[in-house]
Amino acid sequence: MGAVADAARRRRSRSKVTDEAPGHEQLLELVQAAATVADHSSLRPWRLIELRGDDRLLIGRGLAEASGADGKSAEKLEQKALRAPLVLAVVLSPVESRKVPEWEQESVASGVAHLLSLVLDDEGWGVFWRTGTDTRHEAVHRAHGLAPHEKLLGWLYVGGRTERDEKPRKLLEPGRFVSAPGSATVEA
Ligand SMILES: Cc1cc2nc3c(=O)[nH]c(=O)nc-3n(C[C@H](O)[C@H](O)[C@H](O)COP(=O)(O)O)c2cc1C
Repeated sequence: MGAVADAARRRRSRSKVTDEAPGHEQLLELVQAAATVADHSSLRPWRLIELRGDDRLLIGRGLAEASGADGKSAEKLEQKALRAPLVLAVVLSPVESRKVPEWEQESVASGVAHLLSLVLDDEGWGVFWRTGTDTRHEAVHRAHGLAPHEKLLGWLYVGGRTERDEKPRKLLEPGRFVSAPGSATVEA
């Protein structure tokens, strides 16, 4: 098995992370690696917003405005983004194209986030991709300073690993998900 397949088999999401985080320069190196995903016409229809420190609070502010929460409930929403020292908002930034529809471009943005999660994990960091029912609410988009044509794909929460997290992951039975045409084996 090659090194990438090994890293993929080892990868797991880590909901609890420590206050340690990759620095900006290391992040850029890993984003460069993740940006090698297949990208029809090389449109680069994505960007990441790097949130550290108090910048993370903008997520909760947007979510509070979206849900109409105030007082203690709004505070609770704000605290959620403080669960990791680095939060990366994943943004679909579609490019006008007659050849590449938006769903293809969203696949690219999603692919970058998945590959970035893998390379961060492989470098020893803890990562958890989160969303919520209001992820695409206009107030949340505004809080992130998105342009009208952009959309959020959620947030990668990144931090140091805790020791209690080190269970090996359970691998699925792949035969159920791969079939010859006309012989679907995946039950609905
Ligand atoms: C787009 C996307 C959004 C997600 N949003 C959430 C979320 O809001 N809350 C959650 O518990 N898991 C969410 N997940 C799932 C976790 O990130 C994680 O994949 C899941 O807990 C399974 O763990 P594993 O990646 O180690 O298999 C999301 C995954 C993706 C791809």
